[in-house]
Order: sequence, then structure tokens, then C-alpha cells
Amino acid sequence: MNNIILIGFMGCGKTSVGIRLSYQLRRAFLDTDKLIERAQGKEISEIFAEVGEAGFRDMETQLLRDMIGTEQGKIISTGGGLPIREQNRKLLKELGTVIYLKLTPETVYERLKEDTKRPLLQCADPLQRIRTLMAEREAAYAEAADMTLLVDTKDFDTIIKEIEESMG
Ligand code: S3P
Repeated sequence: MNNIILIGFMGCGKTSVGIRLSYQLRRAFLDTDKLIERAQGKEISEIFAEVGEAGFRDMETQLLRDMIGTEQGKIISTGGGLPIREQNRKLLKELGTVIYLKLTPETVYERLKEDTKRPLLQCADPLQRIRTLMAEREAAYAEAADMTLLVDTKDFDTIIKEIEESMG
């Protein structure tokens, strides 16, 4: 059975939707950030502080490689920046069906303005950073995706229904 992979910007709901979808479909759930944190014994913010964003991206690439061939029929949520590497987009396609949860920068800001766990948003003007990063990443998300869902105003039940319908 194919894996279902959720991609999208920080705060789009990949983890929350993924967990609910895994209950609904009775499939196991995996989260790439959590797998990396567990393997490293550190939080993402510590990993960024120690090896930088590039070092973290290498860990994401290695994890995708390890998952291909070993994971099947799972629901997999991914870190928001994982699809920005071309190599990772290819690995995602090999790993399963990719669903992009798309939303506006303003919605991300509203959801994450109090967040302290995302190193890339710890800056003086997080809304501007969100806008810039999202604009830089949009083409990568779109290219990686087999299907795109606009999620700004949708509740979890609606999103999950749309995913299930699309899977047939
Ligand atoms: C990142 C998103 C985070 C995490 C890391 C980097 C990004 O995951 O992987 O902080 O580059 O967008 P979430 O999308 O789950 O917040």
C-alpha cells in the first residue's frame, strides 16, 4: 500500500491532519521532524544551533532514503522545508502520494506568532519572514505535490474528507 505524505509550510496542519488521518484510515503515522529528533536525541532548535540548516537538511535527505523500501502504507508528515531540495522532491515521489496543504502567510502567522520551536521564525519580523520563505518555496511544494488542498478556512474533518475522496 502506498504511503500518504503531507507537505506544506510550517503551521499548515501536516502533523494534526496526519494524526487524524492515521486514526481514520487505521494506518500508522510517522513525522520526519520527530524521527530526526528521536534519532539525534535533540530538539530541532538544538540541531539547527549545532549543525545549521544545511546539516538538518542532510538529515532529512538521509531519512527519506532510509524510509524508501522500508515504509509502506503509512501516513507521513514532513518538516516544512523538506521539499525545497530537488533531491528530496524525487525521494518524496518514490516514497508515496504527496499531498500539499497550502495556506496564506497571514494564516501561518496567526497560528505561529507565539511559537518558539521553529528556529526559522525566531526573528524581528516573522510575518515578513513567512512571506519571503513561502514565496521562495511555493514552486517546490507545487512540483512535489500530487495533489494540493487549500486549507486556510477548512476544519480537520473537511480536509480529511477531501483527502479520502481524492484517494478514491
Ligand atoms: C522547517 C519546518 C519545521 C522543522 C524545522 C524547519 C522549515 O517543521 O522541520 O523547524 O524549514 O519550514 P514544521 O513544518 O513541522 O513546523
